[in-house]
Amino acid sequence: MDQIGRVLDAGRLAPTAGNLQNYKVILVRERAGIQKIAEAALQQYWIETAPVILAIVAEPQRARQFYGERGEKAYSIMNCATIAENMALTAHAIGLATCMVGAFDQDMMRAAVGAPDYVNVELILTLGYPDEKVPVPERYKLTDMVFLERWGARIANLDTSTRVWSTTVQKNLEKGKQLFRRGSKTLFQQIQDRTLDVHDKVKQSLKQRKR
Ligand SMILES: Cc1cc2nc3c(=O)[nH]c(=O)nc-3n(C[C@H](O)[C@H](O)[C@H](O)COP(=O)(O)O)c2cc1C
Repeated sequence: MDQIGRVLDAGRLAPTAGNLQNYKVILVRERAGIQKIAEAALQQYWIETAPVILAIVAEPQRARQFYGERGEKAYSIMNCATIAENMALTAHAIGLATCMVGAFDQDMMRAAVGAPDYVNVELILTLGYPDEKVPVPERYKLTDMVFLERWGARIANLDTSTRVWSTTVQKNLEKGKQLFRRGSKTLFQQIQDRTLDVHDKVKQSLKQRKR
């Protein structure tokens, strides 16, 4: 429970538009509740393997009061995404595993967590201990997704300059480094060999002079 507390608190500390904090988090541990959530999530039954579920619920009316349609339709969702990410990062940092779930039927999900019609469940966060080590998924390179000053203006050498590489490039780079290390001597060895070489040459030329 201490770990769950830390995850929840990370969500509490997340920023929200105008600091409205117009959301609630529903902590679900009972099996029956988790089964209903999996069913509402378009029958994603893998969700039932999670011991804990956090449902992140927006209260859009409060955002509408202050910020109109944008508050209701955009800020409310943005707030929940920010809260979920804070919680996911904290969970990961303390050795837990999470998965965000956004594919679900809103009415069924409200019913599953007993939420009223005037709120929206925005995200489900599964929480548990990892039972496998998953490979890091591929991501686009920075060069492909960051523009400079205006849409479409790529920064050609961004990945090189920040030393952020796609996982494939990273793997190949590591392979290359290993091959290089295997095939070449260390810098110290190279200096030592060169010094001995110079030392021999000096000795020989001194001998020749004596003759
Ligand atoms: C908004 C959002 C909704 C998602 N919904 C689902 C979902 O319904 N079911 C699922 O299995 N994964 C879902 N995911 C997880 C993504 O598929 C996953 O994060 C993505 O494949 C990248 O993998 P990674 O999180 O390991 O980097 C969702 C993620 C986000 C951010």
